[in-house]
Parts: sequence; C-alpha cells; structure tokens
Amino acid sequence: MDMLKKLFSLEGKVVLITGGAQGIGKVVAEHIAAVGANIVIFDQQEEKAKAAAEAIAQEYQCKAMAIGVDVTKPEKIAAAIKKADAEMGKLDLLFNNAGIVLHKSSLDLTPDEWFKVINVNLNGIFFVAQAFGRYLISHNKQGAIVNTASMSGTIVNFPQQQASYNTSKAGVVQLTKSLAVEWADKGIRVNCISPGYIFTELTSFVRQDWQDIWKELTPFKRMGKPEELAGAVIYLLSDSASFATGTDLIIDGGFTLV
Ligand SMILES: NC(=O)c1ccc[n+]([C@@H]2O[C@H](COP(=O)([O-])OP(=O)(O)OC[C@H]3O[C@@H](n4cnc5c(N)ncnc54)[C@H](O)[C@@H]3O)[C@@H](O)[C@H]2O)c1
Repeated sequence: MDMLKKLFSLEGKVVLITGGAQGIGKVVAEHIAAVGANIVIFDQQEEKAKAAAEAIAQEYQCKAMAIGVDVTKPEKIAAAIKKADAEMGKLDLLFNNAGIVLHKSSLDLTPDEWFKVINVNLNGIFFVAQAFGRYLISHNKQGAIVNTASMSGTIVNFPQQQASYNTSKAGVVQLTKSLAVEWADKGIRVNCISPGYIFTELTSFVRQDWQDIWKELTPFKRMGKPEELAGAVIYLLSDSASFATGTDLIIDGGFTLV
C-alpha cells in the first residue's frame, strides 16, 4: 500500500487545471483531488468553474478554487497565477487542457475562425505553459506539466473536416517536445496526452451518424470516457514519471493503429 501511495499519490500538491469547468478537465480534476491534491481551475466559464471547484472541495475534503481566465490572454494568465499562488500558498503542477473544436472545411473557413482555433488550442497552451514555467523558475521550484493534445495531432479525422483543430494539436505535440528539452535542466517535465474520441460536452453535440462512424473506426467500437484519461494524467504529473519528458501518450481505443 505504501508503494502504491508513493507511486501515484499527489498528496500535498497544488494542481492547476485549465478548462476544468466541464468535460475532461473537470473529471480529471476530480481524480487528481481524489489522490490528495488541492485544485485550482482556470476556465473562461467562471460560474461553472467555481461550481466545479466547490463540488470538488466538498467531495474530496480538499482546497479548491476557480478563476475566470481566458487562456489566450497572457497578462490575465500571469495575474491569475499570482492570485492562485497567494490564495493556495503555492502551485506545483499543471494540467494544461482548455481547448475548442470547429468542424468546417478549409475552403469555407474564415480567417477569424482559423485564428480562433489556433489561438485557444495552440497559443493558449503555450501562454499558460510559459506563465507556469516562469512561475516555477522564479520560485526555484521543479514541477511537471501535462498538455492535452489529441490523436488529431497524428491522424486526420473522418468524416468531419477540421484542419484548424488537427493543425493546432500537432502543434501542441511539438510544443510539448520543445518545452521538454528547453526545461529539462530546470527540473520541469513536459508531457502530453493525445485522447481519441471521448464523450464530453465537446463531442456530444455532434451528429449521431458521425459518432457512429467514429465508433466503427475505433477498434474498441466505442468512444472513451473522460475518467479513462485520469490515470494517465496523474501518472505523468506524479514522481512515478520522473524519467518521462516529451512523451505523447496516445489513449484512443486503438484508433490510430488501423
Ligand atoms: N472530447 C474529445 O473527444 C477530445 C479528444 C481529444 C482531445 N480533446 C481535447 O481535450 C480538451 C478538453 O476537451 P473536452 O472534450 O473536455 O471539451 P469541453 O468543451 O467539454 O471542455 C473544454 C473546456 O475548456 C474551456 N475553454 C475553452 N476555451 C477557453 C479559453 N479560451 N480560455 C479558458 N477556457 C477555455 C471551456 O470553457 C470548457 O470548460 C481539449 O483541449 C480538447 O481539444 C478532446
């Protein structure tokens, strides 16, 4: 039991989760609290994020707070990190997860639509990672970051057309590797997860015939659940992963294999 606890505990850690108001971020935040961490949520849906933090604090008897933050705004991120540090006493780990998707063909996409997806999914991941890296280094701390990429960074999804999303997620994978190398000598590990189709608010609105095709193309013949990602995030954030950096952990029910 002691060994198990040592391997996968986040006891005493404060973990920042972006996009934690709903979906993968919220469910993973609950699991992170369950293994002993205190929680900070950054999400642009402020009320929903606060409700999620309150529920987590109650359920897991931990400290949890939320701040309304748009991850595309570097100054707001820096101010929110300062505020969270003041309120929680410290920050240790980051699950950098906020993201959006747009299903639209490249021929029809407007410049603003392209900018928006790249801005949230790639620039947003960079701005939060950069601010968190600066925070750790300026406080003489080591730490770990897990970015949410996607299998869309590796394959091209079908039948929906989503070049902006696929491109942004390929960027997240390469950003993860770049930061891993840049920050290796600073004791900051940077890894990413690449989920396949996961049933959340992001995907639940998608037309049923597309969801049926996604399931058919997945060897497991189903979509994943957010809780099926939690163990991977906890592993990569924990000291168990002390030799892992720049890893892209694909969790997709076998989708990218066939
Ligand atoms: N659901 C899937 O099938 C799937 C698959 C692979 C990767 N992902 C990725 O997982 C992450 C979470 O996805 P999800 O399915 O939970 O989606 P979701 O829509 O349920 O949750 C995303 C959260 O991010 C927040 N957010 C969006 N833009 C933001 C911004 N500019 N600033 C701050 N917060 C913002 C939203 O408010 C929301 O709470 C995303 O990066 C997504 O691309 C999802």
